[in-house]
Amino acid sequence: MSSAPSASGPDLSQGIAIDELPPQGMLLGRIGDEPVLLVRRIERFFAVGATCTHYSGPLVEGIAGDATVRCPWHHACFSLETGEAVRAPALSPLPCWSVEQRDGKVFVRDRKPGALAKTLAASAAPRSIVIVGGGAAGFAAAERLRREGFEGRLVMLSNDEAPPVDRPNLSKDYLAGNAPEDWMPLRPESFYAEHGIELRLNANVARIDVASREVVLDDRSRVPYERLLLATGAEPVRLPLPGMELPHVHTLRTLRDCRAIISQAATARRAVVLGASFIGLEVAASLRARGLEVHVVAPDKRPMERILGAQLGDFVRGLHEEHGVVFHLESTPASIEERRVRLQSGATIDADLVVAGVGVRPRTALAESAGLAIDRGVLVDAYLETSVPGVFAAGDIARWPDRHTGEPIRVEHWVVAERQGQTAALNMLGRREAFDAVPFFWSQHYDVPINYVGHAPAWDELAIDGDIAGRDCAVRYKRNGRVLAVATIYRDVESLTAELQMEKAAANA
Ligand SMILES: Cc1cc2nc3c(=O)[nH]c(=O)nc-3n(C[C@H](O)[C@H](O)[C@H](O)COP(=O)(O)OP(=O)(O)OC[C@H]3O[C@@H](n4cnc5c(N)ncnc54)[C@H](O)[C@@H]3O)c2cc1C
Ligand code: FES
Repeated sequence: MSSAPSASGPDLSQGIAIDELPPQGMLLGRIGDEPVLLVRRIERFFAVGATCTHYSGPLVEGIAGDATVRCPWHHACFSLETGEAVRAPALSPLPCWSVEQRDGKVFVRDRKPGALAKTLAASAAPRSIVIVGGGAAGFAAAERLRREGFEGRLVMLSNDEAPPVDRPNLSKDYLAGNAPEDWMPLRPESFYAEHGIELRLNANVARIDVASREVVLDDRSRVPYERLLLATGAEPVRLPLPGMELPHVHTLRTLRDCRAIISQAATARRAVVLGASFIGLEVAASLRARGLEVHVVAPDKRPMERILGAQLGDFVRGLHEEHGVVFHLESTPASIEERRVRLQSGATIDADLVVAGVGVRPRTALAESAGLAIDRGVLVDAYLETSVPGVFAAGDIARWPDRHTGEPIRVEHWVVAERQGQTAALNMLGRREAFDAVPFFWSQHYDVPINYVGHAPAWDELAIDGDIAGRDCAVRYKRNGRVLAVATIYRDVESLTAELQMEKAAANA
């Protein structure tokens, strides 16, 4: 992956000849010590910060649309006019400068003040909104509600002990020991009080009283709502195996889970990872970074074949083997003992740490008991509203009518959860914004990022462009000649372009 931009380009305050930039071009320059992106859209020029506010991706390597720029790494989208982070995963705006054209040159001038706080017509807004869940969707919804000027009561209930964290990092840099603690919270603790968000941790919601419009907590206290967002996420599947309850056996969903694995990894020598999906293999890579011997046990013929296909599956396997991971494929565990994992075949693998990454189940119990329509997830309409008016759902639990595939789908992706939280926020305020984002996820294995746009649970043709082994490829998953999804390695512009094309196709469908 390329690195964050530095302030090394031309000084944009001194002016750039207009012809230096093609009509749809971008140029990396600087104002003082700050890297600045100058964007040309035919006759108009914009100047915004050049560094993505998510993980510092270099925006000059992304793509600019009519009024936005998209980050190459995880597809965050910013307004060129205001710098606002319009689409997750970035939640903070870019700095923005005014631009002047004179004598065939374009000059970047003064830094614009931050966007003015929006105001909402009090009559249009509900008085109180309750969010159940302090994860990707819940946090993004709360943040967007305040950004949109919602001034009513805003309560976020989470049965986690930690404030919202950057969950994808739990299997990546943080687990590998390469991320400092302060990378993990999505916002510092002071953010919630400053923005009037009543964040209640260790607050388990036991049921929803739809008739009285209240949520009921474990301690029987009640919190009234006018609008409710359910964003309860998913929980790891626990294999029904003898030994799953042993102290060296873990699943990974929360910061606490991750810290428990890190603490055990400090003294462990051999780890067994059960499952060869994204989380399992990211855990394998992170434990290798900590110097553990790592064995992966999975029933599949190839890792990730069901999602990425055979060719990328073989590549991922080879990549992990290069880093010393030992695979036991087409194998299933029979039991876990104190110092080993016993396979169905009778073979054993020594292990003083076991991590099970065998999938998740959406947490739909609350919605089910409240009588909301359920179909392998909580059913929502295009506006993310459930079958009960005023109750919305977003993130891993939500099955929504996806415009791109034309089918109701449910996915477990960070960016989708955040974007759904953002759309649900707007709709809870009375807007009618259909959720139209194309699903996107990324996964990181050592120094190799895999980006995936679209949704292809099954395909009849797989087209490979480039060289998978050379880590420069785009793999297209097609059905009846139509591209359903595109996986890329180091082809960020192609991934962004595919996302844009899918958005346009869905909008015209
Ligand atoms: C280790 C790991 C790595 C991942 N890496 C990636 C990645 O690289 N890319 C990607 O796209 N996706 C990744 N994901 C998936 C991504 O994190 C999820 O899709 C996303 O977090 C879903 O957001 P959510 O808000 O629906 O649920 P969550 O983020 O799980 O949040 C759910 C919240 O609801 C709370 N809750 C649940 N039930 C109750 C209740 N009854 N009362 C009160 N609170 C409740 C929970 O405590 C939690 O705060 C990863 C997931 C994990 C676990
Ligand atoms: S670094 Fe820009 S979206 Fe992640």
